[in-house]
Amino acid sequence: MWSFLSTLSLLALTTTTSACGGHDHSHHRRAFPSTQLTRPTRPLEWGDVNFLQTTDTHGWLLGHQKTSFPEPNYSGDLGDFASFVSHMKRIALEKDVDLLLIDSGDLHDGTGLSDGFPSGGIDGHDSNQFLKRLPYDVMAIGNHELYVYENTLDMYNNFAPALKGRYLSSNVNITTFDPHNNTINVPVGERFTKFTTRKGRKVTALGVLFDFTGNDVNTTVQKVEDMVKEEWFLSAIEEEPDFFLLAGHMPVQKDNWPLVFNAVRAVHPETPIMIFGGHLHTRDCVQLDQNSMSLASGRYMETVGWMSANLSSSCDKKSPSHSPVTFSRRYLDTNRVTYQFHSGTSNHTFDTPEGLGITKGLKNLAKRFNLAQVFGTAPEDYTISQVSYPNENSLLSLMGARVLPYSLTLARDPSAFNSSSSNSSVTIQGVNQSVNPFFMLTNSGSLRFDIYSGEFTKNDQLTASPFADAFNFVEGVEWGVALGVRDALDEAGEARRIKRRGLVSGIDEVLERREEELYKRGDVRKHYLEWLSSMSTLHQNRREMTENLTLGYATSDACPGIGDDTIHIPLESFSIPDFISSDDPTAIAGTPTSKEITNSTLVDLVFVDFIQDQLLGILNDVQNEVGTDKQKQWADGDVKTYSTLLSTEVLGVYAEGNWN
Ligand SMILES: *[C@@H]1O[C@H](CO)[C@@H](O)[C@H](O)[C@H]1NC(C)=O
Ligand SMILES: *[C@@H]1O[C@H](CO)[C@@H](O)[C@H](O)[C@H]1NC(C)=O
Ligand SMILES: *[C@@H]1O[C@H](CO)[C@@H](O)[C@H](O)[C@H]1NC(C)=O
Ligand SMILES: *[C@@H]1O[C@H](CO)[C@@H](O)[C@H](O)[C@H]1NC(C)=O
Ligand SMILES: *[C@@H]1O[C@H](CO)[C@@H](O)[C@H](O)[C@H]1NC(C)=O
Ligand SMILES: *[C@@H]1O[C@H](CO)[C@@H](O)[C@H](O)[C@H]1NC(C)=O
Ligand SMILES: *[C@@H]1O[C@H](CO)[C@@H](O)[C@H](O)[C@H]1NC(C)=O
Ligand SMILES: *[C@@H]1O[C@H](CO)[C@@H](O)[C@H](O)[C@H]1NC(C)=O
Ligand SMILES: *[C@@H]1O[C@H](CO)[C@@H](O)[C@H](O)[C@H]1NC(C)=O
Ligand SMILES: *[C@@H]1O[C@H](CO)[C@@H](O)[C@H](O)[C@H]1NC(C)=O
Ligand SMILES: *[C@@H]1O[C@H](CO)[C@@H](O)[C@H](O)[C@H]1NC(C)=O
Ligand SMILES: [Zn+2]
Ligand SMILES: [Zn+2]
Repeated sequence: MWSFLSTLSLLALTTTTSACGGHDHSHHRRAFPSTQLTRPTRPLEWGDVNFLQTTDTHGWLLGHQKTSFPEPNYSGDLGDFASFVSHMKRIALEKDVDLLLIDSGDLHDGTGLSDGFPSGGIDGHDSNQFLKRLPYDVMAIGNHELYVYENTLDMYNNFAPALKGRYLSSNVNITTFDPHNNTINVPVGERFTKFTTRKGRKVTALGVLFDFTGNDVNTTVQKVEDMVKEEWFLSAIEEEPDFFLLAGHMPVQKDNWPLVFNAVRAVHPETPIMIFGGHLHTRDCVQLDQNSMSLASGRYMETVGWMSANLSSSCDKKSPSHSPVTFSRRYLDTNRVTYQFHSGTSNHTFDTPEGLGITKGLKNLAKRFNLAQVFGTAPEDYTISQVSYPNENSLLSLMGARVLPYSLTLARDPSAFNSSSSNSSVTIQGVNQSVNPFFMLTNSGSLRFDIYSGEFTKNDQLTASPFADAFNFVEGVEWGVALGVRDALDEAGEARRIKRRGLVSGIDEVLERREEELYKRGDVRKHYLEWLSSMSTLHQNRREMTENLTLGYATSDACPGIGDDTIHIPLESFSIPDFISSDDPTAIAGTPTSKEITNSTLVDLVFVDFIQDQLLGILNDVQNEVGTDKQKQWADGDVKTYSTLLSTEVLGVYAEGNWN
């Protein structure tokens, strides 16, 4: 690899001069389509080096296909994106500038295309074949490549090789076997790469993951602070390139990019550094100094990031100094209108054969995985944070008040499972259930994406509730105690938000620690929701400016000017509780009436197994404070399975029974 590189470096020396001297912006102006395109607002600002970034695509390769706003704005699929990239590459050639395509990780977990594989398959294996067909210059590993060893192994064996040394995992290793059956511990991709762009610019690239701790056995994540002290790292950054390309799965603000940035700056005080981060699922940008820009481009194929820079002003001034680099950045909504606007194409000229081929292949994959299988028709939108909780249109309310009570108790009365038993792919058993009234609890984090009105398919179920957790219960909890548990959980969430003391001593500290732990293990929901909420708040003061705008992201980041390519009004966003519950049994038909239920009535406390340890602790605390039997200690031995249904199945079962 090194001898190959040094040849390229020589080439680089001979061509950089012409890159400096002769950049030519006098190409013909492209004719943009003359249709009523009020958005995007303005053409992209090109530079000498230009980048398109995807990140956190999580299997959303067929785009967003629902008709509720703002989903259509993200309706472009990977085939459309491939066509866009190929037009942009052509424009870059015409302008005689560089255009690089970057991805910052998290290719797994998110839709049926990645997760809906038949048993025996590997998550993301099939969807990833389509990403390989795009001309990515650098891709970095994400935490979702590391939760399941088989997925990491698949990336190592079948994905990374296709990138020919440009799949980067600077601080992530896998333990596997070499061809002689010896155990080896090696980077999943390469730790770094050095290459030369078409215009002869020398690039040193890394692919860094944040300090992730939720990885599977036989994968290793080295802390960023340790990575920057490694021999290989120091020698990789020693030689000065034309710019450093730091791709990686790490938020551009409030995480460890400064460690990597400072390590490079210690050696090269002025060399341009382009950072492409991700992981928080937000649009974000910051400049760590004037010769650097850090960009993060959202999630789920909703956003394509654009960064451009003019590096060559130093050539004009005949000065060895790099300063100042000029940058621009833009967050593009992923749809054909955006793509055609910026590539100067129309419906008739936009699609490339390769783009159409990718779309067709993805549709075939969806067919093969049976993702269009319809469970029912959702009558309305049910969103995670666009309405307050509880609310008719809250997905959390739907889950707590309707889906769990219906689906988990169906086995008590199999005749209720009517219209669909012949179609249903799941067999339900609930033989452990008692005749007690029930009270059900789950964590709101189990819900990942909104449900929109219209057909509710297998793909939608995988997208909305992807975590396969079981439902357990303890039998015969006093109703007064169960209520106390619910209040303690509410109180705890509230306490963390407004610093009020929890009802049960120590619970806020427990949850605080849990939150830190969740972040280290890769849970970013809280951060994403806070971002939505800050957008919504900021907007309230700017209502007068926004009369004709459509719904979407309204980003305010730390870079100059407006980042969004299409200006939107943000969606309303409400804070949501960490835990959701079924209605009180007093309000549920078929259980004793409110008159008969007192604090000492025994109920079954049903909960998702994911929160078991935490819940039993709180249950015992409450039991000791308000229960009649102060000696009672609930333990794992008291826990029984309530239903054989998993959290990945309850929505489909509910839809079959209620949405037909
Ligand atoms: C780069 O320079 C060209 C020519 O001066 C200018 O039109 C363009 O806007 C600049 N791009 C950036 C990102 O500064
Ligand atoms: C490696 O080990 C596996 C069993 O662990 C065996 O099936 C395989 O034949 C071995 N391969 C070589 C090349 O020794
Ligand atoms: C990663 O693999 C390399 C190459 O085998 C090895 O030198 C290094 O110690 C490993 N790093 C970690 C953190 O396991
Ligand atoms: C991890 O890898 C080692 C060495 O290949 C192997 O012996 C061990 O069984 C693996 N552990 C697990 C849990 O797969
Ligand atoms: C482009 O095609 C889409 C349907 O694919 C259509 O809705 C739109 O109106 C067309 N635009 C133009 C300018 O013809
Ligand atoms: C079951 O089907 C009958 C008619 O076949 C219908 O009246 C009843 O409402 C259905 N029950 C449910 C729960 O869908
Ligand atoms: C059950 O399958 C039949 C035929 O395959 C279909 O017409 C019907 O809509 C399905 N019902 C549900 C609830 O999916
Ligand atoms: C019932 O229990 C709840 C929660 O523990 C408590 O707030 C309420 O005062 C109790 N009611 C009675 C009548 O004891
Ligand atoms: C909003 O749209 C109307 C009709 O298209 C137009 O007359 C008006 O000037 C627009 N307002 C703004 C602020 O752009
Ligand atoms: C974006 O969403 C808005 C509704 O918020 C819709 O009016 C507009 O047509 C969408 N744009 C595209 C390109 O689909
Ligand atoms: C009943 O609970 C026991 C203990 O958790 C479990 O092993 C068994 O599978 C459960 N049976 C059913 C049908 O859920
Ligand atoms: Zn992600
Ligand atoms: Zn991530």
